[in-house]
Amino acid sequence: MGAVVVVGTHWGDEAKGKFVDLLGQDADVVIRYGGGPNAGHTVVVDDQTYKFHLVPCGILNPKTLCLMADGMALDPEILVKELDELEARGIRTANLRLSANAHVVLTYHKQLDALEEAAKGERALGTTGRGVGPCYVDKAARTGIRMGDLANPQRLKERLEAVLPQKNAVLTKIYDAAPLDLNALLEQLRPLGERLAPLVTDTSALASEAVAAGKAVVFEGAQATMLDIDTGTYPYVTSSHPVAGGACIGTGVPPTKIDQVLGVVKAYTTRVGAGTFPTELLDERGERIRERGHEYGTTTGRPRRCGWLDTVVLRFAARTNGLTGICVGHLDVLAGFPTVSICTMYQKNGHLLRDFPAGDVSLLDGCEPVYEEMPGWPEGIGNVARFEELPPAAQAYVRRVEELAGVPVVMASIGPRRDQTLVPPDMPPPRALFSAPRGVPVGPRVPAR
Ligand code: IMP
Repeated sequence: MGAVVVVGTHWGDEAKGKFVDLLGQDADVVIRYGGGPNAGHTVVVDDQTYKFHLVPCGILNPKTLCLMADGMALDPEILVKELDELEARGIRTANLRLSANAHVVLTYHKQLDALEEAAKGERALGTTGRGVGPCYVDKAARTGIRMGDLANPQRLKERLEAVLPQKNAVLTKIYDAAPLDLNALLEQLRPLGERLAPLVTDTSALASEAVAAGKAVVFEGAQATMLDIDTGTYPYVTSSHPVAGGACIGTGVPPTKIDQVLGVVKAYTTRVGAGTFPTELLDERGERIRERGHEYGTTTGRPRRCGWLDTVVLRFAARTNGLTGICVGHLDVLAGFPTVSICTMYQKNGHLLRDFPAGDVSLLDGCEPVYEEMPGWPEGIGNVARFEELPPAAQAYVRRVEELAGVPVVMASIGPRRDQTLVPPDMPPPRALFSAPRGVPVGPRVPAR
């Protein structure tokens, strides 16, 4: 058995939840390692749809231990609501544990998120407004409140006594907003702390023990590579580390213990919020993808920007995450186009760029995509049972994505349900990923780019 990290390859919303759920059925432990309620994972099981913001999707398997690890930003109100909703639907949540080191998203973080965005005006990032950025600001400034504090009323009071005057000074003097009252804040947090305290523990010890014991462990990424605060398209990024390396930082599991890294990529590309997006389609084709793919945010309901698949970014994601396999999703959404385009390179000022300009991301501005056009495939592929039964054009598209990424495709998805997942004929079943050799792609094919 082994440790598998699942990451998004572009700007988020790649449907990682579906693949984490598939692997989660065979996993002993599922760990979320970063981000907070800015995430939204949708999982469809039979006729039931579950929308997760904080809780790892592994919770749907009653035998799986689920950890919310050090790197997360937890909003206790949203967490308790999510737990209540799951319990009400008959999902046991007793196997959930929360890191004492995870940071707590508080009222003032959400206020500051909104105030800072409004102050930026046209330069706003388009955050999810969930207070996640300001929470990570406090983490880096060492003024954050952690779950271990929330679980200990005396410590929480002492920490807030130290931090709140500074927050109130910012709220009142910079933003002309009302100050927060310490006692009211403590009163609001008390029942949440009491409810969550029994779950708060040293998740890094639990994660390390599981990995050392050779259990099947899935690291559930939130957001995606291009939203990573260091690797992504700064400043239009989130404030955490969604890349595979973040799975180590965010959990206390060392890099030497990670066996496989799966990148989840949609058959097209989307982005929410501001920032350059070379393959964005501002015409009816983008609109068609948005409507057919229900490309509206799980967390905010915002329409997502849609465009053709950008494999310049995909190759960058393969390099920076060390991808050993990719899962290509949403093939059904692209169905019905007479032809589909795939971006293989950028061009700028007469120069061709094969590699993503990560050294200076401002170089991305003005990059024009260079497209390869491929035949489309007909609609109605949602009930195809085997990869070989997909229309040849759809199979060819998946193979081309594989070639351009230089990473084998281990799964392809034709709809949100578990049974709408196809494994290419020369690939082993998903559970084999847990026993694959460390850092080596599964299956016979290591495609040459
Ligand atoms: P924040 O994470 O709310 O601070 O937002 C920063 C940027 O990341 C914005 O452009 C958001 O739209 C984007 N973002 C954050 N979480 C997600 C996600 O789960 N999917 C897609 N975009 C996200």
